[in-house]
Amino acid sequence: MPSHHFIPGARFRFLTPSYDRLSRLMGFGERFRAFELRALGALDGKRVLDVGCGTGALLAELREAKPARLVGIDPDPAMLAQAEPKLRAAGVTAELLRGSADALPFPDGSFDVVVSSLMFHHLDGPTKRAALREWRRALAPRGALVLVDFGAPRNAMLRAVLWPLGLFEHVAENMRGRLPALLEEAGFTCSEVGRYGGVVVALAATPRTLTAPGARPAGSRLGAPR
Ligand SMILES: C[S@@+](CC[C@H](N)C(=O)[O-])C[C@H]1O[C@@H](n2cnc3c(N)ncnc32)[C@H](O)[C@@H]1O
Repeated sequence: MPSHHFIPGARFRFLTPSYDRLSRLMGFGERFRAFELRALGALDGKRVLDVGCGTGALLAELREAKPARLVGIDPDPAMLAQAEPKLRAAGVTAELLRGSADALPFPDGSFDVVVSSLMFHHLDGPTKRAALREWRRALAPRGALVLVDFGAPRNAMLRAVLWPLGLFEHVAENMRGRLPALLEEAGFTCSEVGRYGGVVVALAATPRTLTAPGARPAGSRLGAPR
């Protein structure tokens, strides 16, 4: 069952109505969405799921993408309520559902692309792992996951400024650069496809097929888990 306990998009509920404005102020406006679109690549004819879609800011950018199916899921009705008019205004047809990343209401193999943007750091450790297993299940065998979230800060200055974020349990693994290792553990092969602002990382991951015990998947660019 989906757990509807969640950390709101802007951390505090009273900020939810201002989520889009705050995001833009923090540098997650148009340039960031363009970065995400590049990470996603071509989506025409694909079944696409946005997990933790929030106010639908990314979905609204997919008007040119011509996906076969577009679904956004989020546990927060107040975020979804902002998504509906935005998608209508953008002329984007998408199904919006209330639900949690770790309990998707879809049969196995329902999507060609699962994307999640700035949501993963809202999950605690066990839920992160359960969500990755669930996304792998919902992906078609040749599907792809695009995970965009905080990673290890790229340089010493960012590390010095951002280290307090690592004190929060939900963000700690992100800041330690553990996302590739978590993806690997969940049965994905992943590679970094972009960085935004030195601290947000875009990872593209594909479900790993069974290989000989101990074999490293071809094309894996992952280092040893830290
Ligand atoms: C920082 S916002 C990002 C929203 C949107 N993806 C974006 O890029 O603007 C994080 C979102 O994750 C959602 N969220 C929190 N816990 C979740 C969970 N367990 N499953 C799915 N989404 C969740 C929040 O409701 C919120 O909408």
